[in-house]
Amino acid sequence: MLTKPQDQQIRKQLDRHKVATVPRFEDIQITNAFRLEKFRINPDVFDASFMTSSKETARALLEEDVVPLYRGKQALDMGCGSGIAGRVMLEMGAEVVLSDISEAAAKNAEENVRDFGMRAVVLCGDLFEKVKELDTKFDFIVFNHPFFSGEPIENEPVSRAMLDPGGVLRRFLTEAKSYLEEGGSILMPYWHFAGSGKGSNDPAVYAVEYGYAVKEKVIDVGAETIQNGTFSIYILKPKA
Ligand SMILES: C[S@@+](CC[C@H](N)C(=O)[O-])C[C@H]1O[C@@H](n2cnc3c(N)ncnc32)[C@H](O)[C@@H]1O
Repeated sequence: MLTKPQDQQIRKQLDRHKVATVPRFEDIQITNAFRLEKFRINPDVFDASFMTSSKETARALLEEDVVPLYRGKQALDMGCGSGIAGRVMLEMGAEVVLSDISEAAAKNAEENVRDFGMRAVVLCGDLFEKVKELDTKFDFIVFNHPFFSGEPIENEPVSRAMLDPGGVLRRFLTEAKSYLEEGGSILMPYWHFAGSGKGSNDPAVYAVEYGYAVKEKVIDVGAETIQNGTFSIYILKPKA
């Protein structure tokens, strides 16, 4: 159940998404040294050009202690949306699979790979539904998951990127372990405004119970961003 401020925040995010009705090409500055140029954002896809969680996840992927977890290795961008995390990892030298439940997102991600002369496998399915057909294990999985608990809103396709109707996070944590190589890691962001404790979608709340060791980095994003306040970036590793 969303609080009133959370409900208002979801509406604000959805309204901002509705401004664009045609594909746009945006330059996304992720760090001082790393920029994605003419990155395509299609309508009905979580917009990485202004959503704070997309940029913070992409920025985390460029941290010097994170790059070695996927460079030269097999990486999975789960819930890829427009494909921002997958693109960053491709540019940094990973072999990447991208997957999303939304057809619009998978198409957008495919365009953001193919139109830039890169090669990656792009899938459309619920969590690991299509990934399992590859019969591959990954050294690294990133999932910028829906943070809020609640039913996606009818006729608001992007709401599925923000609202978890129940169990997406826990199913992901249960299944992800069997797709990780030994020593592999998962990176997940969380925006604490979306809730805390049991019933929230904070990965740290469930990680230990689901058999992961957790490393957390806390980030305070500027007040000028659409999702402002405190984020955590978690690195999860299955316990032996
Ligand atoms: C917060 S958005 C993140 C998008 C993109 N990774 C980014 O950072 O901009 C969450 C994404 O997860 C996808 N998603 C939601 N539930 C899913 C599921 N059960 N299986 C796969 N993807 C899912 C949504 O369609 C959406 O694209």
